[in-house]
Amino acid sequence: MRKNSNNPLFTFITSGFLLMLLLFNACKGPTPVERKRGLIAEKAMVVSAHPLASEVGAKILEKGGNAVDAAIAVQFALAVVYPVAGNIGGGGFMVVRQKDGSAYALDFREKAPAAADRDMYLDEEGNAVSDMSRLGHLAAGVPGSVAGMFAAHDSLGRLPMNELIQPSIDLAMGYKLTEKEAASYTRAREQIEEYSTQPTFFSQKEEWAAGDKIVNEALAHTLTLIRDHGVAGFYEGETADKIVAEMERGGGIMTHDDLKNYQAVWRDAIIGNYKDYRIISMAPPSSGGIALMQLLNMVGQHPDALAEGFHSVASTHLIVEAERRVYADRAKHLGDMDFYPVPIDGLLDPAYLQARMSDFGPNQATDSDVILAGEPLLAEHDETTHFSIIDAEGNAVSLTTTINGGYGNKVVVGGAGFLLNNEMDDFSAKPGVPNMFGLIGAEANAIEPGKRMLSSMTPSIVEKNGNLFMVVGTPGGSTIITSVFQTILNVIEYNMYMQEAVAAPRFHHQWKPDMIMLEKNAFDKGVQQALEEIGHTFSENTRNIGRVDAILVLPDGKLEGGADPRGDDSAAGF
Ligand code: DON
Repeated sequence: MRKNSNNPLFTFITSGFLLMLLLFNACKGPTPVERKRGLIAEKAMVVSAHPLASEVGAKILEKGGNAVDAAIAVQFALAVVYPVAGNIGGGGFMVVRQKDGSAYALDFREKAPAAADRDMYLDEEGNAVSDMSRLGHLAAGVPGSVAGMFAAHDSLGRLPMNELIQPSIDLAMGYKLTEKEAASYTRAREQIEEYSTQPTFFSQKEEWAAGDKIVNEALAHTLTLIRDHGVAGFYEGETADKIVAEMERGGGIMTHDDLKNYQAVWRDAIIGNYKDYRIISMAPPSSGGIALMQLLNMVGQHPDALAEGFHSVASTHLIVEAERRVYADRAKHLGDMDFYPVPIDGLLDPAYLQARMSDFGPNQATDSDVILAGEPLLAEHDETTHFSIIDAEGNAVSLTTTINGGYGNKVVVGGAGFLLNNEMDDFSAKPGVPNMFGLIGAEANAIEPGKRMLSSMTPSIVEKNGNLFMVVGTPGGSTIITSVFQTILNVIEYNMYMQEAVAAPRFHHQWKPDMIMLEKNAFDKGVQQALEEIGHTFSENTRNIGRVDAILVLPDGKLEGGADPRGDDSAAGF
């Protein structure tokens, strides 16, 4: 060898080889980031915000329950182990796709009590008092979750309801806190003590630590009443008495009649197409489905910009401009269809969406003050949690549920062990006055007795060429719509695995305030600068956007879970 190294021919060949290697590496670009799949399951999967809830769901699937059965069990389990958002005192939306392709959308959103009125959160000068719609008894809408679970079960469930509720009763008799939860409990304790009128389980300790055991006997008892008496176990009798007594002690307005009259409603799902994909999502009173379809249509008009790549200047600019227009529409046109004629067909009309993007310039940001809501043709709206489920037969459930803010209105119903929502803040308390997510609204989302407040929750199911492809959704208030939208794009346009698509950094624009909110490391410095040069403004603070839990059906039929690393989220399956 040593001899050869002095040979000029050898030197020529080796240096040529090294040069080629160098050139080859330069063409390849930067060293590729290691790719990461989520949990893979052969047949069935649950992805939720809490490992114990995911386990409960997976066990129901293993013993032959279908996706709806598992969803019901997970909803009740989250009400115990994830009280920051999981609930029986709140509401939500369930989107179902059965293995035969049929689609269902269940609305169990909270309602304004009968004594609510449009000006209930205004002071004498007519100014909105935001604390009134966010904290304490007046902030609560009539809960829909228990009615929703029974409505789902009546139509699509398989296993007996008591088998779906029992795991949550067992959990209420003792479960252990994760580290993130312990910190969250400690932070929330004082406010919950301030707004609840009776001692709560949060006060069992001053400082909570990982591994601490929570026993919530009052909640176990409430869940037992629901198990044994069905809907009446919550909306009538002992539990209803406790809710109404809590309202009377704390100055709330919810009555026995409000509770007794509550009903969940099946809606027609919002269904749209994007390339070879068909998307099934939630109808009003969520704005999510309509907004998602509008966004996909608008970015689909400019495939070249999208093709520039994930978080490139061109694709980000396009996405922001679409989001700006869609949120302007949301503020004016979206509300509860039972009270306001939401122009669904007009908002989704391709010609309307084409016109809406006609002033999109690839090299200039638009000013939100000159983007007004569009005028679609009239044909005759921090904590929430989402879970995604696919059962062994291929039925799918996408369910987002909430008490709105973290720990809702901070009121634990005395003796009943569960928190109430502060969903009334999702109404527009006064035209143009932002709610806790900075969203504004007007007539379409004004408060009326019995009306449902506008939501952004976007539980969605995607098909590819007619087959189940993805189940996806997230919490995040106003950022829900954009997080679901960007996760879908990450998979469809940027070929990410499910886990990568969920973990990838996100950004958000909601028309007003006119700025791009972003997560840490969402953009390369150069990209951000280039976007600023064409007129975009970035929020100075970065924060987590959304907590997406999703499942992808792989080409070989196996399932990949995407459990958001931003929380304790976990996938379980078999
Ligand atoms: O329905 C809505 O749009 C809101 N109440 C959701 C609240 C939420 O996602 C808070 N979570 N981070």
